[in-house]
Amino acid sequence: MTSRGPIDRHAAWQSLSAHADAMREVHLKELFSESDERHGHFSRRAAGLMLDLSKQRWRDDTLDKLLELARVAQVPEAIKRLLAGERVNRSEDRPALHTALRLPADACLEVEGEDIVPAVHRTLDHMATMVEKFLAGQWRGATGKAITDVVNLGVGGSDLGPLMVTHALADYRPRDVHRVEVHFASTMDGSQLADYLDRLNPETTLFVLSSKSFTTIDTLSNARTAKDWLMGHLVDGDGDHDLVMRQHFIGVSASPEKMSEWGISNANQLEFWEWVGGRYSLWGAIGLPIALTVGMDNFRALLDGAHAMDRHFASAELADNLPVLLALAGIWNVNFLDIRAHSILPYDGRLEYFASYLEQLEMESNGKSVTNDGEKVRYSTCPVLWGQLGPNAQHAFYQLLHQGTQAVECDFIAPMRRYDRVEDEATRKHLKSQHRLTLANCFAQSRLLMLGDEAIDDDGPRPSHKRYHGNQPSTTLLLDRLTPETLGALVALYEHKVFVQATIWDINPFDQWGVELGKKIATQTEQILASREGIDALDASSRGLIEAVWNAEGV
Ligand code: F6P
Repeated sequence: MTSRGPIDRHAAWQSLSAHADAMREVHLKELFSESDERHGHFSRRAAGLMLDLSKQRWRDDTLDKLLELARVAQVPEAIKRLLAGERVNRSEDRPALHTALRLPADACLEVEGEDIVPAVHRTLDHMATMVEKFLAGQWRGATGKAITDVVNLGVGGSDLGPLMVTHALADYRPRDVHRVEVHFASTMDGSQLADYLDRLNPETTLFVLSSKSFTTIDTLSNARTAKDWLMGHLVDGDGDHDLVMRQHFIGVSASPEKMSEWGISNANQLEFWEWVGGRYSLWGAIGLPIALTVGMDNFRALLDGAHAMDRHFASAELADNLPVLLALAGIWNVNFLDIRAHSILPYDGRLEYFASYLEQLEMESNGKSVTNDGEKVRYSTCPVLWGQLGPNAQHAFYQLLHQGTQAVECDFIAPMRRYDRVEDEATRKHLKSQHRLTLANCFAQSRLLMLGDEAIDDDGPRPSHKRYHGNQPSTTLLLDRLTPETLGALVALYEHKVFVQATIWDINPFDQWGVELGKKIATQTEQILASREGIDALDASSRGLIEAVWNAEGV
């Protein structure tokens, strides 16, 4: 890799800064009035997705300059290094090979002398065997009853990916199989778990302990409670502890030793590798809850969709490359138009958890302020990103988007077609009209955010409190349909977008050292709370809070 030096010292960056001074005052409605072809001109398609970037506050020359920036930042070379399995995660000295998890079985990817594809497919086959057993009603609990409920215990990447996808693809549950309900408990306070323990039957409940490190206290504390609950109900006197462990626990981790230490039987261990980042891990064993919900064929279709996006990412020209373009739109907003808030707005209830998923993917990856060489960055990196289902957000925070003082970039996401598979004709008709209503809202909102109150042809003038300024940039992503394939492509699109931005910013998107100190200090604080010793070393606020809890006999 040739050193390129700080990106903001390059002529390409400076040319963009000067260009931004001119563009800052240009309103989107002006850009749209310049050409009727703007939508076609700034839209691209790949892998069942259509990306419309015409509502970004840019012109052709802006995009040319951004593409030059990508070249100067050596984005094409970085993509090759990522996909080839080079050690792109420099602070942890390892590759980031989530793309290998979706390679087909006949592919070959030699990483440091070893083809890793066979191991990936051995794990997928192991998952397939397990899923088949569950869906045939043959995975039985310790008392012989078929398992009906699986609770995933995990947090962060070991929770959000599977949670998001199982909701998104709930329509793809296979019929005529033994029904297994999948649940998710992530919070360390035990509130989600307590609810499940209250209503589930221990005889027919199995827990999946999902943790790459198998050291995360959030997950291990839930796991300990779950174990005690099962043992309390299923093992009396001479009951078989090992049988309960075998029939009621599966472990998913990159540390087989730690799974064994915890008591997960060898046959119930699904492995993945250090070269898969937690927030990039839904494509392998961490995806077990997805496969249990939609079946292994649909899980493999999800991988195929992601792989189609990987191929596009690897081969498309920069100017037609969806992840690259999406990344450049973000760079333009964050670094040149000073727009540092980004909202994710899906118009499809099945994507309820998509924004939460992206919050981790984008902010844990690119919420960084030192370069790969340890220098402090001289420009903004990841924006504050948040979101919610668009139709619900319309009744919550859209007021700020329309009339607040913050500039916000928005991503609108929707499927073009929906409800084709609803059998009852009358219901299908009603649901399709709801889909039409939803799309109308999606398109109306992005138009209003773009044009302001000029979008409405009424007989103004309006009082100032009814005026909308518009000029909020947005991207619209339309999926042909929401299927396992298009969802896979959509998630891979965002993963690669994050990578391209990290490359331009020269930061490492695959580590998360900022989270570590929080874990350490929480452990120390818990010791103080429990032992009532060492409080004097703390600051006045922490002391006051802890003493208030002690006085309330809270712990
Ligand atoms: O919050 C930090 C983090 O390490 C995330 O990156 C990760 O997804 C999550 O914790 C869970 O980690 P693990 O899968 O090791 O339990």
